Amino acid sequence: MWLLWLLLTLVIIKIFNKLTTGKCSSGNIMTGKVVIVTGASRGLGYETALDLARRGAKVIVACRDDTRGKQAVETIINKTNNKFVRYIKLDLSSLKSVREFVNEFTSKEAKLDVLINNAGTICTKTEDGIMRDMQVNHFGPFLLTILLTPILKKSSPSRVVIVSSALHKLGYVPENWSNTESYFQAYANSKLCNILFSNELARRLEGSGVVVNSLNPGQVNTSLYRSSTLLEKMRSLVLYTFFKSPEEGAQTSIYLAVADECDDVSGRYYEDCKESCMSHKAKDKDLAAKLWSMSEKFVKLSPEEVI
Ligand SMILES: NC(=O)c1ccc[n+]([C@@H]2O[C@H](COP(=O)([O-])OP(=O)(O)OC[C@H]3O[C@@H](n4cnc5c(N)ncnc54)[C@H](OP(=O)(O)O)[C@@H]3O)[C@@H](O)[C@H]2O)c1
Repeated sequence: MWLLWLLLTLVIIKIFNKLTTGKCSSGNIMTGKVVIVTGASRGLGYETALDLARRGAKVIVACRDDTRGKQAVETIINKTNNKFVRYIKLDLSSLKSVREFVNEFTSKEAKLDVLINNAGTICTKTEDGIMRDMQVNHFGPFLLTILLTPILKKSSPSRVVIVSSALHKLGYVPENWSNTESYFQAYANSKLCNILFSNELARRLEGSGVVVNSLNPGQVNTSLYRSSTLLEKMRSLVLYTFFKSPEEGAQTSIYLAVADECDDVSGRYYEDCKESCMSHKAKDKDLAAKLWSMSEKFVKLSPEEVI
């Protein structure tokens, strides 16, 4: 009998979650728009790229693995009949790879309408045992966005969308980037940096026609959790019940990329396709400015690249 009650409870929770999940209701067509989606080989990035390809955009699938990247492109083309979807290699854990990506992109494309900084990792280490999260989740996207800012400005009105997380509320900005934090803390810190970066970039680009916003996709059943030993223990039924599907999780990224009402909105934080509250720390302008100058040094920007 208790099993029946448990199943009924899970079904009710699932229905409740479905009904309360935000959905992008914009029917806007993106034909002629050029969009980059990082981490589009799977999860939220893949669903975002698929939706934007369905709307007719030229979509650049930017990810680190040739096989998974090309496979994603093939599947998206087959599903949407949009031939303007292609892969460019981007490994955010390598600053050299970020620069090579930008060179390849700008040598082939004359404009960029939307940059979606979606790729992320949680609880992973490099082969040298260094925590990867801050570089993949913040420094790599920071360099990518700064190097693409000239083409975003040239293409204005244009948009930058940065995928953060509710866990930013537990983050702080470390004084140095050494390997002393727990996996979980490193992830939370990187997600706080996403919002601080988004807000500071929005301030610096005010009046340029480039809008910048960040978001929390909610809890989504993706492979992000694959390398977290704690979370690996959660059973698929629980994930299915309590978490959004990747398609549901991608809605706020899609909304910020396409909806008319986001045309002039910048420096805000969204959840379920609605503006939401970022933490007190995420609003701190001094902290954002400090992170910005630390990041410029870390990624070794040249004087002419500084914005
Ligand atoms: N899932 C959630 O509940 C949740 C909640 C809050 C925030 N988020 C955020 O949502 C974003 C997407 O996560 P997801 O849930 O879709 O995770 P996912 O399914 O694991 O997808 C992550 C994507 O990022 C790519 N990636 C990882 N390391 C990379 C690197 N070094 N260079 C380039 N790309 C790299 C992955 O490529 P490979 O295929 O090569 O691994 C994959 O395409 C992340 O920023 C995450 O922090 C997710």
